[in-house]
Amino acid sequence: MILSTEFVGGVLEALYAAQIALRDAWHGLGLSATVADQPAWPFAQRLAAERLLLEPGHARRVVITLACIAGALALALLALLLAVLRRGRRRWIPGLALVAGALLVFAPWPSSALLWAPAVPTSLHRAPQAFSAQSIAQGQAVFSRHCAQCHGADARGEGPLASQLAQWPPNLAGGLLWKRLEGELFWRVRHGMRDARSGAQTMPGASALSDQEIWSSLDFLQARASGQMLRDMGAWERPVRLPVSTLNCRHGGRRASDSLRGQRLQLVLPAAGEAALPQEDPRWVTVVLGAAGNADDSAECLAEDRALLPALALVLGVTPQQAPGHRLFVDRDGWLRARSVPGRAAWSQDDLICRSEAAPAAATDGPPAQGVDGLLRRMDADRMRLVRAGYPH
Ligand code: HEC
Repeated sequence: MILSTEFVGGVLEALYAAQIALRDAWHGLGLSATVADQPAWPFAQRLAAERLLLEPGHARRVVITLACIAGALALALLALLLAVLRRGRRRWIPGLALVAGALLVFAPWPSSALLWAPAVPTSLHRAPQAFSAQSIAQGQAVFSRHCAQCHGADARGEGPLASQLAQWPPNLAGGLLWKRLEGELFWRVRHGMRDARSGAQTMPGASALSDQEIWSSLDFLQARASGQMLRDMGAWERPVRLPVSTLNCRHGGRRASDSLRGQRLQLVLPAAGEAALPQEDPRWVTVVLGAAGNADDSAECLAEDRALLPALALVLGVTPQQAPGHRLFVDRDGWLRARSVPGRAAWSQDDLICRSEAAPAAATDGPPAQGVDGLLRRMDADRMRLVRAGYPH
């Protein structure tokens, strides 16, 4: 039996939502505390969704077992209804009970060691703030003051203190962050980490930092890792959002960039002295970085926030000096999807550097479109989903 990734994704999303609902109900009954402004996860374990993604055999067992449990419950309900409403059919009840029991006995119960993972009170916490240019800038400052001595300014784990530590810091400029729940990363930075066997501290807790500074440092790390992965692999293997910043738009005045969700954006980082900026185009909203007066005012929106250029440079894996001249496409859901490097005039499908694994090879309807139309069609046809620690968000 082959389970489509979409189906598994749906099951995982439901499991995640169910855990959050359980956490919130528990909290609503006054049985758990508030930690870092969100309800605490009250149990020592949580469902280990990351395993479901990594181990297809395990995922299959879980899904079939869930189906068996659902089937057994349905049969039990039917038996109950017969008992109450159709007294004449009561003789069917033992048979139903037998089938329900068999479903439970013969279900391929997954190993419980694979089902659960150790949890902390903030396991299911979500970052309370948007992934924004400001938080990335703040996170970068926090990181260079409090973390870079061990983790290295580039977060690859080679800071000046690294060699003296009992354990070498991991490379945080790769895919590691997406294998974790963000609430568990928060907890580890807040309280530090210990060696599982000896109990000795491997990373100190960041007791001097506010909660918000910790969330910001994680935003910085995510931007940094996205840029490094783009340099190493030529793609954003994990979808990354356009960092939120304030825009000044002809329609709607000052507004946060995420209020434009639902529309495609083309982000233009003008090169020094660049004269001919793209004209307004009905296929997307043009956002030009820079202050009014410097930039061509034919663009629909201006991004004047000074923190945006360094944040985008991080995500692009270049220095802030190398960032001007780039163009980016943001899809209708707010994900950064395509990049054109300085000096390139025309867009092609190869510029789509953030795709899902299940990306359609070509748009299905109509003749194959070239250039920017082909790119936009593929971008729209292939919607991104962020997966963290196995849970689609
Ligand atoms: C004294 C050195 C040191 C400092 C300072 C330090 N770290 Fe670490 N960090 C480590 C080591 C060592 C590990 C690996 C620990 C382990 O796996 O047990 C680690 C692990 C991590 C991880 C990976 C957690 C995981 O789930 O695997 C993250 C994220 C992290 N650090 C972020 C930070 C941030 C953010 C700061 C600054 C606020 C910081 N660290 C400060 C040494 C340090």
